[in-house]
Amino acid sequence: MIPVSYLFEAEKVFWNEVYKKDQAHWIDKSISNLTKYACKKYSPFKNVLEVGCAAGVDTFYIAEHTSKQIIGIDIAPKAIEIAKKNLAEQPEKIQKKVILETGNVENLKYQDKQFDFVYSLSVLHSTDITKSFKEIKRVLISDGKAVIYVYLKEKEHNRSYSDQDFLNEAKKYFEVIKTSTKDIPSDAGGDNHVAFIMELRAN
Ligand SMILES: C[S@@+](CC[C@H](N)C(=O)[O-])C[C@H]1O[C@@H](n2cnc3c(N)ncnc32)[C@H](O)[C@@H]1O
Repeated sequence: MIPVSYLFEAEKVFWNEVYKKDQAHWIDKSISNLTKYACKKYSPFKNVLEVGCAAGVDTFYIAEHTSKQIIGIDIAPKAIEIAKKNLAEQPEKIQKKVILETGNVENLKYQDKQFDFVYSLSVLHSTDITKSFKEIKRVLISDGKAVIYVYLKEKEHNRSYSDQDFLNEAKKYFEVIKTSTKDIPSDAGGDNHVAFIMELRAN
């Protein structure tokens, strides 16, 4: 059996290479409409975890709606390096609230019930969703919310999940507030996707 630490290392190397080869087309994006929607609907937040924060664009926006702290994690050290540079250009009140660090959603180092909101955009389809949902639920307070945006049937990393696969895992730990599906004919990298958005409340 392949040790978990080896798989984690392989994922980390893969994503880090994407950044190093300048293929992370999402780092120059503007604040996502979903991020604005989530903040409008679910803020004010006290403690937030953003999974797969990349360059921090959405992290800094969510920080404006967060009273205490937002932790942005990404599996790629290079992404965190870029995000930290970007954070240094943010106003001091944002800098004070944001922590950026390398981390894997499948194995979070945070305490149980540490956050009242978890946000993740375009990440979980490349992870082991059995582990990811379990970890997200563990770190959320009861009644905490999560907004998770994934792509359906992605072939990346040999993972391929349907909307039903995502819901089956999510429903083990969450009440589903709302789901929506969106066709993305061409993302910033020119790829087409079907996006699936889950708004969840921790049981
Ligand atoms: C497609 S990008 C999306 C980034 C950002 N959320 C956005 O929408 O612009 C996916 C990000 O998730 C990170 N990632 C992939 N697997 C991860 C994992 N298991 N834990 C945390 N981050 C992960 C990648 O390094 C990458 O930065």
